Amino acid sequence: MSSEIGLIGLGVMGKSLSRNLAQKGFKISIFNRHVAGKEEDVAVKFQREYQELKEAQPFDNLGEFVKSLETPRKIILMVNAGPTVDLVLNDLQEFLEPQDIVIDGGNSHYQETSRRMSELEAHGLIFMGTGVSGGEEGALKGPSIMPSGQKDAYSKIQKYLEAIAARDADGKPCCTYIGKEGSGHFVKMIHNGIEYVEMQLLAECYAILKRQGTSNENIAQVFESWRQDLDSYLLQITIDILRKKEGNDYLLDKILDKAGNKGTGNWATVSIANYGQPATLIPAALFARYLSFFKELRLETAETFSTKKFSGEITKDQLKDSYQFARIMNHHQGFALIHRASEQHGWDIDLSELARIWTGGCIIKSDFMKELVEYLKADVNLLTNENLIEIINATHNAIQSVAAACIQGEIHAPCLIESVNYFHGQKAATLPANLIQAQRDYFGAHTYQRVGDSSGEFLHTEW
Ligand code: 6PG
Repeated sequence: MSSEIGLIGLGVMGKSLSRNLAQKGFKISIFNRHVAGKEEDVAVKFQREYQELKEAQPFDNLGEFVKSLETPRKIILMVNAGPTVDLVLNDLQEFLEPQDIVIDGGNSHYQETSRRMSELEAHGLIFMGTGVSGGEEGALKGPSIMPSGQKDAYSKIQKYLEAIAARDADGKPCCTYIGKEGSGHFVKMIHNGIEYVEMQLLAECYAILKRQGTSNENIAQVFESWRQDLDSYLLQITIDILRKKEGNDYLLDKILDKAGNKGTGNWATVSIANYGQPATLIPAALFARYLSFFKELRLETAETFSTKKFSGEITKDQLKDSYQFARIMNHHQGFALIHRASEQHGWDIDLSELARIWTGGCIIKSDFMKELVEYLKADVNLLTNENLIEIINATHNAIQSVAAACIQGEIHAPCLIESVNYFHGQKAATLPANLIQAQRDYFGAHTYQRVGDSSGEFLHTEW
């Protein structure tokens, strides 16, 4: 009997998604390549391991895998982003027929996704670039799913994706059609950028509390108290992490302070620069990771320059307010960036609906995200929202004090500091860009516009 849907790539995410599909009662075929001595009988062994996969059909022969599927075929690709996707698509094409649908559920670059879509469409095949967030557990219990590509093709895969997705507070699936081209992977990339900032903000709050001599357990307690009005998945896991012991010691204290990354924050930063969007926090979080990575160099510099003792008075309330302020700026920048790209490409992304599918299943799910579902219905610019204006005004003093104390106390806190710095620029009626324009005109005759000249004419001066 044919399977309704197939999945290629039994890595961590692929395995979890297969089990999730099978648990929802779908007949599935699963495929993993055969690599002698390394990946042998992966699909068969995996299928035997779980009761819910009893009916699943395992393969390591691609042609047979494809043959086992109902037509038009629906195949979820869960392989490493990058060249592997092209290699697998290349192998697959030989067996596919027009109208078959391939869903790329990896963290692919959105421009690559758009390219692959056009290439496969030329052969009558349908390619759906689909962001999937939630890590291993999310993939198994319900991720947030961001599909994009041909809208009419989405209706053919909708029931599968919606069935395996997380649920929002109203029981609706955290899965929605995002738009055409690679828009699904674009929003996943920005999701990850927002994730980088949320993680970095918690790391900076942790650093401040630590410098004040707070124990890990007490930091966990401080964070625990924030859950009442600022709850999020990342806050919760951070509390768990702070409390995790290995013997008598905290595991966290034994983890080397070199942050890794798999590239989506880098891509997000490059695209921020390409769109010319002042989304300053994602780059700040990315470069904080890069800075951390050069541990040996930091140790060397630390030998050269002494560090002042931290004497800055930061109260717990000020820290909480600063965290809240910075998170508002982070989400404001992230959604503004998505809106900008959506306008530019004609993707027509519904930001409120996007926030809704990010209220469950994904890494950046939070109580704040739930509020954003409503706020983004009214205006895509979150800095015009009455409720947020009130919070920003109420927390502005705190973040100013915290940023100043971090500078004075030599605590590296790029995201907290940049959040208020960005805000000051964003609300500045005048900026010194007149001088930049004059300088550009001076050395390069790049011209400038004059204050109050409604014609907008560009002029040059012989300086
Ligand atoms: C998710 C995560 C997931 C993964 C990132 C981590 O939404 O489920 O974002 O995609 O954890 O790739 O990225 P870094 O390795 O770059 O931190």
